[in-house]
Amino acid sequence: SKDVLGLKDMTAEEIGYILETAKTMKYILASKNKKTPHLQGKSIITLFYENSTRTRLSFELASKYMSASAANISASGSSVAKGESLIDTGKTIDMMGADVIVIRHSMSGAPHLLAQNVNASVINAGDGMNEHPTQALLDMFTILEKKGTLKNLKIAIIGDIYHSRVARSNIWGLVKMGAEVSVAGPATLMPPGIENLGIRVYSTIQEALIDADVVMGLRIQLERQKKALFPTVREYARFFGLDDKRLKFAKEDALVMHPGPVNRGVELSSKVVDCDQSVINEQVTNGVAVRMALLYLLTRRGSGENLN
Ligand code: CP
Repeated sequence: SKDVLGLKDMTAEEIGYILETAKTMKYILASKNKKTPHLQGKSIITLFYENSTRTRLSFELASKYMSASAANISASGSSVAKGESLIDTGKTIDMMGADVIVIRHSMSGAPHLLAQNVNASVINAGDGMNEHPTQALLDMFTILEKKGTLKNLKIAIIGDIYHSRVARSNIWGLVKMGAEVSVAGPATLMPPGIENLGIRVYSTIQEALIDADVVMGLRIQLERQKKALFPTVREYARFFGLDDKRLKFAKEDALVMHPGPVNRGVELSSKVVDCDQSVINEQVTNGVAVRMALLYLLTRRGSGENLN
């Protein structure tokens, strides 16, 4: 399709194809000369209405490694600050010849609205509490790389599920790929009806961790809290923080993951962030490979060209 808006609407075959393409990109990334001509003549624009380090930079580097022209617009430094609408901003970028617009926005559905109004391909880099599909794809790529399969793996996602677009995209993707997903967190941070997505819901971290192959921590999204946080950050760390003692409930070789940025000492203890089971740094590297794959596939739509 023209756009990558979420994993809810993607098939297992499409997800598998992206992850397979990302494998080739990882080889390119590991080579001495990272530069490839695959995106020569293409323009990639990152349009970020919310802060980012990993997602924005990895899209920018992925574009540059593949010889595309890349530019960034942030809301504060653009005409968005003068009141320009999302659609008008998108059309302006479109008229300058952008091939792909990567958008992060605080409103769920903003990338979908943009996609309907521009000719460029649109990639959702996180929309409100809805989805963060490229994060879930890089998470699945990392699990696949380490465990060889996603099928029947026990994945525990711990924390602020209610406000997490990362959790939603991972649930859509992992369930489609045959994994067994459990979530745990305080009742106030658990969306009603989440169990209908084919996952198990627990109120203690220990229950979700038992025999887990992968443990995924999540940051508490304080920026999306409308009321005062309950539990408080300190209470959260005490009852749901992942430390080395709690990690022992999971399998001995369980992977520790986190999309970043991590609040050390809140959702994960510093020791767990840096432990041998942690693949948090590898997730960052894999983010570049997955985003290279997505840019490649979107800009080659209908050309019949293959990667090799
Ligand atoms: N995981 C993630 O989306 O990180 P950034 O907010 O730094 O992009």
